[in-house]
Order: sequence, then C-alpha cells, then structure tokens
Amino acid sequence: MAIAISFDQDKRNQVYLDKWVEHYRTYAKEGQCASYIPALEKVNPSQLGVAMVGPDGTVLKSGECEATFTLQSISKVISFIAACLDFGTPYVLDRVDVEPTGDAFNSIVRLEVHKPGRPFNPMINAGALTVASLLGGRSSLEKIESFLIFFEKMVGKRPSINEEVFQSEWQTAHRNRALAYYLKETGFLESTVEEALEVYLKQCSIVVNTEDIAMIGLVLAYDGFHPIRREQIFSKEVARLTKALMVTCGMYNASGKFAAHIGLPAKSGVSGGIMAAVPARVSSPDSPFPHGCGIGLFGPAIDEYGNSLAGSMLLKHIAREWDFNIF
Ligand code: DON
Repeated sequence: MAIAISFDQDKRNQVYLDKWVEHYRTYAKEGQCASYIPALEKVNPSQLGVAMVGPDGTVLKSGECEATFTLQSISKVISFIAACLDFGTPYVLDRVDVEPTGDAFNSIVRLEVHKPGRPFNPMINAGALTVASLLGGRSSLEKIESFLIFFEKMVGKRPSINEEVFQSEWQTAHRNRALAYYLKETGFLESTVEEALEVYLKQCSIVVNTEDIAMIGLVLAYDGFHPIRREQIFSKEVARLTKALMVTCGMYNASGKFAAHIGLPAKSGVSGGIMAAVPARVSSPDSPFPHGCGIGLFGPAIDEYGNSLAGSMLLKHIAREWDFNIF
C-alpha cells in the first residue's frame, strides 16, 4: 500500500513538473539568447528543461532536460573549489575576495577604483580569470586537465569541450583579455594572460546537460559529500564558502533578488544553465526531495542580467511549491 501511495505521488510530481515547464516555456520569448558569443546565438530560444537529482540517485526531469549546452559561468563554482583544494582556501582568498559587486559579470571598473585591485569575488570574470591562472598545473593544458578531473569526480563522466563555442569566445574575448592584462599588471594573475584566458574559456565551453549540473548541485547540497558514491569530495568548509558565494554573487547583479524571491544557492551561465543546491531538510510533505537535491535547469533565452528567463521563473515556482527556500 505504501508503495502504491508513493507511486501515485511520484506520478503526481511528474505531472506537476511537466505542467510547470510547459507554462514557463511561454515566457522564453521575453528573453534572448546571448549574442555576444556568436556560437550561442544559434540555439533555439524556446527550450526549457529541468532535472532534479536526490541523494539516493532518484531523478525527476522534464522538458528539454537532455539538451546539451555549455557550462559558461557555472564553471566558476567548480574552478573555485578545485583551486581551494589544490592550494588551500587562504591562498585563494588572498587573491580573490568574497564580496558581491552589484556590477555586470564582466565589469572592469572596481579593479582600478579599489586598490590593490584584488577581484571582488570568484563568480565575476576578473575573479574567475585569477582562479583559472592558479589552477593546479604548469601549463594551460595541465590546468584545464585538473579542472576536467575534478568535474569527472563530481559528475561521474569526463566532459567534452565544444570547440566551436571555445573558438567563438576566443575570437571575441576582448574584454576578458583586457581584464586579464589588468590583473597581470597588478600581480594577481599567476600565469600568462593567454594561458589564463585559454583555461577560463575552455572551462566555459564544457558541454553538459541538466542532470550533470544537478549532480554538482547535489554534492554542494551535501556539503562536499557525494551521497550516491558515498565519498567526501571536498570539505564542508569549502562547500559552505562556495554556497555563500553562490547566494551573494551567483546570479550576477540579480543575486539579491534571487536570494529574496527564490532563496537557494545557485549559479547561472549565459548559455542559459542554472545550477542550484537544495539542502537536506524535512519540509513540505509534498516535496519529492525531503532529503535535499541538486537542480539543473536549461533555458537559453536570458534576461538583462544574463540569467535564464524561463529557467529562473520555473525555479522560483518549484522552490515555492516544494518549499525549498533555505531562509
Ligand atoms: O566570460 C564570458 O564571456 C563567458 N564565457 C562566461 C559568461 C557567463 O556565463 C557570465 N559570467 N558570469
């Protein structure tokens, strides 16, 4: 009997999720695919997909959840954790602060205004370029390799890099190059400008689907413990620091609104991905994941801040219906 009830509940949750995805998909037309990277502009903007992974490996998904997209700024979370593991948190925080900016992700203004020019946080480009320059390895190839190895540990598969997106970014990375040159001049960049840029743009060009990023969210929700593989991948301290950064800086200069209205540690990327971590807690009895979960969303039409428009709306709805707000 208990099985029948839970089966019914599972079916109901799937029906709800399918309905919500179809409803919020209609809002995608109010956003646009990122056009400053030519390869991203070609994507079908009306896609919307979501995958949620629980600690026992249960997956609930809907819409274009199998569609692949590039990691973009979600990679900043992974590189930050990998750098903390390689060099220790104090070393990394000496080079990148943990303060939100309220500026656009690629803004250069604060680097000069605030001496000595330490990037405000690792979720903006200045911080991510600095982190990319200090990843483990002596060359860009070795550094990206340490990123890939760490990604594989969390997600369970070795990802590929979308060469077309990488080339497209590389050829249009004028502002990122400017940021990297500035950071080199102030002494924060530990590699050459071209190496840091190559590592950063390659990590942005890694191919994922919603379930992959949901897995990353799940490990974060479990404070660095992989509940499916039953392995502590990084420390609780690093996980908590990362989640605090996601809450304060993860959704660009809409992070305040996101925390206020959705209330989840999350990170987005301009290709339309959002990764969120839902901690283990007993909440609404109707929640399909009372023991927490990771959420991955994909909706390539983004808003003026660079966040998936339909994806953010869908996540807000899910968080409200299933009582996922951490605050
Ligand atoms: O730096 C860029 O332009 C991108 N490759 C990353 C963009 C992104 O997702 C926004 N970053 N916060």
